[in-house]
Amino acid sequence: MKVESSLISPLHIEENRKFYLESYGCQMNLYDSEIVTSILFDEGFSKTSDPGQADVILINTCSIREKAENTIRMRLAQFQSIKKIRPYIVIGVLGCMAELLKFRLLEEEQIVDLVVGPDGYRDIPSLIRQVKDGRKALNVAFSKSDTYADINPVRFIGNGVTAFVTITRGCDNMCTFCVVPFTRGRERSRDPHTIVNECNNLWKKGYKEVILLGQNVDSYLWYGGGLKKDFYKASEIQRKTSLDFADLLELVACALPKMRIRFSTSNPSDMSEKVLKVIVRYSNICKHIHLPVQSGSTRVLKRMNRRYTREQYIELIDKIRCLIPDCAISHDIIAGFCGETESDHHQTMSLMEYVHFDFGYMFAYSVRPGTPASKRLVDDVPDSTKKKRLQEIIDLQQKHSYEGKKKHLGKIQEVLIEGESKKSTLHWSGRNSQNAVVVFPKEYYKIGEFVTVNIVDCTSSTLIGKTTFNS
Ligand code: 5AD
Ligand code: SF4
Repeated sequence: MKVESSLISPLHIEENRKFYLESYGCQMNLYDSEIVTSILFDEGFSKTSDPGQADVILINTCSIREKAENTIRMRLAQFQSIKKIRPYIVIGVLGCMAELLKFRLLEEEQIVDLVVGPDGYRDIPSLIRQVKDGRKALNVAFSKSDTYADINPVRFIGNGVTAFVTITRGCDNMCTFCVVPFTRGRERSRDPHTIVNECNNLWKKGYKEVILLGQNVDSYLWYGGGLKKDFYKASEIQRKTSLDFADLLELVACALPKMRIRFSTSNPSDMSEKVLKVIVRYSNICKHIHLPVQSGSTRVLKRMNRRYTREQYIELIDKIRCLIPDCAISHDIIAGFCGETESDHHQTMSLMEYVHFDFGYMFAYSVRPGTPASKRLVDDVPDSTKKKRLQEIIDLQQKHSYEGKKKHLGKIQEVLIEGESKKSTLHWSGRNSQNAVVVFPKEYYKIGEFVTVNIVDCTSSTLIGKTTFNS
């Protein structure tokens, strides 16, 4: 990192201004960083990958767990050295941590000049202008309607093959452990025309896969008085006055028959059979559902306010397996939530044994400020117990992931090449429909191509293949 020193702030010249943007957290945050980049490009800013050269340093933050916040605080401390040499630069915190901590961020972290929550990104250019002579700027207001639908995200993240497309913002679910409803506000669904247009533009640019994003995609609901005429042709969906997630999925699958479509995150209490039937009907919709369970104990699920029981979750799994036998299912699980007993923990493990998840994301519970759990429940599971239970869950998942991968052996699958294998320059890495990583020899193939691959070996995280040409 090279730090350039100068007496005149380029921010006040308003020419050749450079920004540096670092992103943490979920896929939604990465998408938001592409929105922020678009907004700043429109204002004449250029992007730098070196914070030492930047006039504006922005960190798009995550608050979902305590660990994420600690990482960001450490990063802010590192930026202090740049601010010492170039005191006029603007350091801004965007996203969930900005929303959660608000003024406290300006007070506690003395080097922060700008605090902008997830609904304030349109304001960033004017807020940057307000930061002068030690003055700070903040916008943490929530919007009930803005989905940034009209902003064309600048796709600087990723491989030019796969892109995120946000379909809803915010969450109304109020799971007691979760900070998201407090950092991202009320749930809003995006106009389907803008979603299809964005996917179409991505296809024209050479993208081959879109991931439709929302905290709870299944609660997508758009009342727009029917689709515009051009859109009927693209879809089997007849004139409708409202669209739910199944309709949207079908609309996108029809409009872009060669584009691979993924979606995340599904909520067990809202996922409908209608959605499953659409997945079955369209071969370009990937056969993978990310279905966080959080716990296998109905008692704990109730405390988490998850709105389903262990039995209902299992019923949904059975339905998925029946309708889409080759569907991969992944999970999120929290170990050591308030009041979790050893018996609750064993129920989580036994549910895992029943489902045999293909993969999952596993966390130890950490209290988040402002959440219902932080106010009403006691974080009474000792850290050592949380760690022990988490490790047991991880070990079991590792075993299931390996067993699940072995089931792919001998199968011929379509793989979309995403880039070079991390371990070998002679191999490509891509994913099959079930979202499993597949590595195979490069031969004459190119990034972004769909290749038919024969699965010949595996580890717990990766499938190893040969192209059918070679086998
Ligand atoms: N502690 C631990 N894990 C959490 N998650 C959300 N909030 C917390 C918390 N307070 C996990 C959930 C969620 C995922 C995105 O993060 O499993 O599905
Ligand atoms: Fe958080 Fe629950 Fe909303 Fe997911 S569904 S973002 S866990 S409140």
